[in-house]
Amino acid sequence: MRLIAFLLLGLLKFSLAQDRDPFQWLSSLHSRGYASLQADNTGGECPEECDCPPTFPIAMYCDNRNMKQMPYIPSRMKYVYLQHNQITSVPDNAFGNASNLVWVMLHENHINSVGKQAFAKLVNLDRLYLNNNNLTEVPSDLPRSLRDLRLNHNTILKKVPNGLPEMLHQLYLESNSIEAVPENFLSQFTNLQYIRISHNDLTNKGIPQNTFNNSGLVELDLSFNKLVSIPVVSTNLQHLYLQANQIKGTFTFIYFFLRLEGNEISAGDMPSEAALCLRLATDIAV
Ligand SMILES: *[C@@H]1O[C@H](CO)[C@@H](O)[C@H](O)[C@H]1NC(C)=O
Ligand SMILES: *[C@@H]1O[C@H](CO)[C@@H](O)[C@H](O)[C@H]1NC(C)=O
Ligand SMILES: *[C@@H]1O[C@H](CO)[C@@H](O)[C@H](O)[C@H]1NC(C)=O
Repeated sequence: MRLIAFLLLGLLKFSLAQDRDPFQWLSSLHSRGYASLQADNTGGECPEECDCPPTFPIAMYCDNRNMKQMPYIPSRMKYVYLQHNQITSVPDNAFGNASNLVWVMLHENHINSVGKQAFAKLVNLDRLYLNNNNLTEVPSDLPRSLRDLRLNHNTILKKVPNGLPEMLHQLYLESNSIEAVPENFLSQFTNLQYIRISHNDLTNKGIPQNTFNNSGLVELDLSFNKLVSIPVVSTNLQHLYLQANQIKGTFTFIYFFLRLEGNEISAGDMPSEAALCLRLATDIAV
């Protein structure tokens, strides 16, 4: 329980800071008795610009500090929060001996360069958030252990990258410039359940037949693209988002949750058996 609370705290601070007074999270921590978080080194060495709470010495909080470069990361760390800074590069030696890292939060920075080996040694890495940066390509040599990779809101990702870790459960690529996905894209990821590629430039031509006909997939978000027809998907899929494409005509299958508004479909194009499926289909928006 306590572990989860600490981990989530690192993200919560960020959202509070974004929505309200940037320092409110700090004062609220103080008022809840976390004042000792500041500059206390009894849990081990800690870079001056970050907080390493002695009660949870494997986490390092460096979010919202106007940092321009990666800080030194002590080797005991498992969770580092570096989001919402102005970091522009993650060099090869950025993580030094911190090979135990499990979560690395680097979203909301200005990262435009990542060393080829920067993440390679992080063999336990589970979550890597690089969304809202200036990446033009996906970092190479991502650890195989990675399960949650967020690359949404970057500058120019033209295509879904090759060589992503096979263990991925979640892959977020929204708001890039992706036009196509590779042939057999999903066959290499047997654990992938959630894919978000909304707000890109995907066309039907860019999606090879059966790409998304994968029985492990739970959620597929292809909204805000340039599709004119609904791609083949598995009947096991639970959430399919297709709104704001250019989809026309009739279709004959129903999912648990399907969003199609902002296309060129009317209620009359719904299959006649739709009513029978409504017991399963909890929400169909046209
Ligand atoms: C990393 O570990 C090696 C071997 O244990 C050690 O020689 C080196 O000083 C460490 N580097 C840092 C930056 O702590
Ligand atoms: C990153 O991208 C933003 C928005 O596209 C741009 O304003 C900014 O200058 C870029 N910064 C760097 C360091 O490339
Ligand atoms: C989708 O995949 C299933 C299972 O592999 C297969 O039986 C089915 O024919 C595929 N659908 C299409 C339209 O190719």
